[in-house]
Amino acid sequence: MALWTRVCGLNELAPGEHRVTDIEGALVAVFNIDGDFYAIEDVCTHDGAQLTGGPVIGHLIECPRHGAQFDVRSGVAVRGPAYAPISRFPIKLEADAIWSRDDRWD
Ligand code: FES
Repeated sequence: MALWTRVCGLNELAPGEHRVTDIEGALVAVFNIDGDFYAIEDVCTHDGAQLTGGPVIGHLIECPRHGAQFDVRSGVAVRGPAYAPISRFPIKLEADAIWSRDDRWD
């Protein structure tokens, strides 16, 4: 079972901000959207671009390369040219910090 990795302190990720962390070789982006936290793999399923270079519109992250959009709550691609969902990861808040883990292989 994958171990939890500390992403950052709770007070280090304000609403509207994100933080990218390497978790066991996966690039994981954690977003604070209106006080709620979401973790996704920071890789576009269309052609592998890093998503966090693009704008965040509500709960949508837009790929900076060709404009695909993904909902960070579900991982679903809501606008092409990507169709496959991005991976999502669990979040826990503990010891005044934000934690995530890559549970895809559990
Ligand atoms: S690489 Fe993201 S839309 Fe093409």
